[in-house]
Amino acid sequence: MKALILSGGEGTRLRPITHTNAKQLVPVANKPILFYGLEAIVECGIKDIGMIVGQTKEEIKEACGDGSKWGARITYIEQKVPLGLAHAVKIAQDYIGDEPFVMFLGDNLIKDGIRSFVKEFKVKKPNSLILLAEVKEPQRFGVAELRRGRVIRLIEKPKDPPSNLALVGVYIFDKSIFPAVNSISPSWREELEITDAIQYLIDHNFKVHPHIITGWWKDTGRLEDMLEANRIILDTLKSKILGEVDGTSKIYGKVVIEKGVRIINSTLRGPVVIGTETRIVNSYIGPFTSIYHHVTVEDSEIEHSIILEESIIRGIGARIEDSLIGKNVNVTRSDLLPKAYRFMLGDSSQVGLI
Ligand code: DAU
Repeated sequence: MKALILSGGEGTRLRPITHTNAKQLVPVANKPILFYGLEAIVECGIKDIGMIVGQTKEEIKEACGDGSKWGARITYIEQKVPLGLAHAVKIAQDYIGDEPFVMFLGDNLIKDGIRSFVKEFKVKKPNSLILLAEVKEPQRFGVAELRRGRVIRLIEKPKDPPSNLALVGVYIFDKSIFPAVNSISPSWREELEITDAIQYLIDHNFKVHPHIITGWWKDTGRLEDMLEANRIILDTLKSKILGEVDGTSKIYGKVVIEKGVRIINSTLRGPVVIGTETRIVNSYIGPFTSIYHHVTVEDSEIEHSIILEESIIRGIGARIEDSLIGKNVNVTRSDLLPKAYRFMLGDSSQVGLI
């Protein structure tokens, strides 16, 4: 069995963070989302991984390399334009050949991995096994309609969903998916939809089995989903303190402090993770916060947030909450006169002042 990870596409819902960066590489609990998927695949004994890449290919290649870090072999497959999930399958046909494969959407996070899913496919040998989960807003997903335990219909982002069972971004296919992706036409959003390809399998009497998961999963496309993923993963952390904590600082709960970190006269209330070479001075870092590497936080309070590398947060008079702050961002108090807010914000930035 092989795997196909989809790491192309555009991260429109996480702009401006994804204007310049791959959405699959935004870290959750200081680890790129994509790495959770890679680990889940390797955990099933799958070593050959095809990685669909688009505009952000250099960044993805730099992060994942040849896959040897995970004991896998990654082959990059370039998708010049993001023409849909079924289009990604189409261009991967030569790489996949006749083997069954797991298709994993690179911005999805499944806490308990995919072992039981892969095992079920190997035992029951359907043509396709699709992962489903009950969700509150099915109109945001591909939705499945089941009858007597069988999948009878799939619809992409329906206005009027026939059920609350969403397609989680993990699928297993055998080679019958190739004639399907080669037979369908683009949808209203001009994409070749994987849901239409699976519907083709159903309509042509191939066996499509559902596998309903009850564990936690997330499509991390939006800010609130990223923060929730961060919260859930941080909760599973084991404390580890490799950096320096001075005598006036206080650490409560589960906290990971990586090498080269300096915590000076500050309070950290876990779960919290602080990346390498970060400095926290005269500050409070509250629950569910991930601060990446080479960040400086001084005279500030942060809670339930994700701060990316090389940013500086200094002298903020109020607590920062529910925030995602990108790479190399400066949020500082200024003493310049006239007294004014001074911004340089990228397109689609969001600022909430008090
Ligand atoms: O997250 C689950 C949902 O994922 C399913 O319920 C939907 O049925 C499925 O269509 C998909 O919907 P999204 O609209 O969330 O897909 P998105 O465009 O975000 O793409 C998912 C991943 O695939 C993401 O990592 C980008 C990558 N991608 C996407 C497209 C359209 C590609 O690599 N190439 C593409 O052409």
